[in-house]
Amino acid sequence: MARDYVEGGAFALNNSTSDVEQENRLLRETITQLKHELDRYRSPALLVADVVELVDDENAIIVMPNGNKFFVDIASGVDDVKNGDSVLVEQKNLTIVDKISSTKRFNVDQFIIMNKPTTKWSDIGGLKREVEEIREVVELPLKKPELFEKVGIEPPKGILLYGPPGTGKTLLAKAVAASTNATFIEIVGSELVQKFIGEGAKLVKEIFDLARENAPAIIFIDELDSLAANRIELGTSGEREVQRTFMQFLAEIDGFKPLSNVKIIGCTNRKDILDPAILRPGRLDRHIEVGAPDIDGVEQILKIHTKKMKLEKGFKYKAVAKELVGLSGAEIKAACTEAGYAAIRQNRHVITAKDIVVGKEMVLRSEELEGDEYMNMFS
Ligand SMILES: Nc1ncnc2c1ncn2[C@@H]1O[C@H](COP(=O)(O)OP(=O)(O)OP(=O)(O)O)[C@@H](O)[C@H]1O
Ligand SMILES: [Mg+2]
Repeated sequence: MARDYVEGGAFALNNSTSDVEQENRLLRETITQLKHELDRYRSPALLVADVVELVDDENAIIVMPNGNKFFVDIASGVDDVKNGDSVLVEQKNLTIVDKISSTKRFNVDQFIIMNKPTTKWSDIGGLKREVEEIREVVELPLKKPELFEKVGIEPPKGILLYGPPGTGKTLLAKAVAASTNATFIEIVGSELVQKFIGEGAKLVKEIFDLARENAPAIIFIDELDSLAANRIELGTSGEREVQRTFMQFLAEIDGFKPLSNVKIIGCTNRKDILDPAILRPGRLDRHIEVGAPDIDGVEQILKIHTKKMKLEKGFKYKAVAKELVGLSGAEIKAACTEAGYAAIRQNRHVITAKDIVVGKEMVLRSEELEGDEYMNMFS
């Protein structure tokens, strides 16, 4: 019966019995190992969820990434689960089987800008009515909340600044943060939506936590429209994700008291496309339009941005301002900078009224060119 080779088996039968037995054992071990491995591959993946509320040691309410909430068991051996923790849950009965190590502040610090601005009210030209309004609804309640308690009215939790680009919306928000010594937390709506796919809602929650920890604080949301546009259809998963982030944002606003020392300032160039939910009473319910400056405003802005320049003798602010009407604050500033360059090119350091008018034309021309480039993208 001795054979040296058996097809399909690589061992020789003429070996001693003990060798064969050993070989046999090894093969069995390998099979068990492979079975284990196979089981692991076959077991369904665990889902990631967040704990909304810990009911007791054995039960919790969790929220799935799609927003659905469930009352679930906590497997024994999983201790120290807290509200807000990220956990792994089984697919079938959603039992919490493990905690994901705390990812708090996973990226919030890198992505927001948090500082204490130094912008002064005097850095803002024109916008007298806007400044008054913002001081009344943001500064006063932060500085003297007791006044509102006494009178029995609730100040808005947040305001909306809207209007064309470059008119001083960001400037206003920074000035009110500076005057109240508030921490200024700046986020850009489009970044919140694009960079943090799947994590936007969590990030919103962390931003509000951060604001509360650093209060008094102003949460400044630029390009609010990319987060809060009115969506009629929620076709793609991306759109649903933005919607979830937006819902979390609304929930956070609803969750704090009007007299708390966190305020929200939203900014947009497109108020017309905002979801009315964000503008409802109790949310960003004070809307302040920030428009292009009138002639007096232009003159003030011109004075601000030429303050450090050496102007020609007899420089007539009013006459120059007349030339600049129609420009935004940002454009006036750019015209002054261009005027400075024009002087440098001609080896002068004194700026004339003519330089500023030339500067204005250059600013308008470069905007036109940019506009053409924009149109070329579609042709
Ligand atoms: N009213 C103003 N007074 C003085 N400077 C201004 C004024 N408006 C704009 N500027 C100048 O233009 C710059 C840009 O303005 P700002 O960022 O406040 O515009 P914005 O309204 O927020 O624009 P966008 O809608 O594009 O965000 C400011 O840093 C400032 O130098
Ligand atoms: Mg801005």
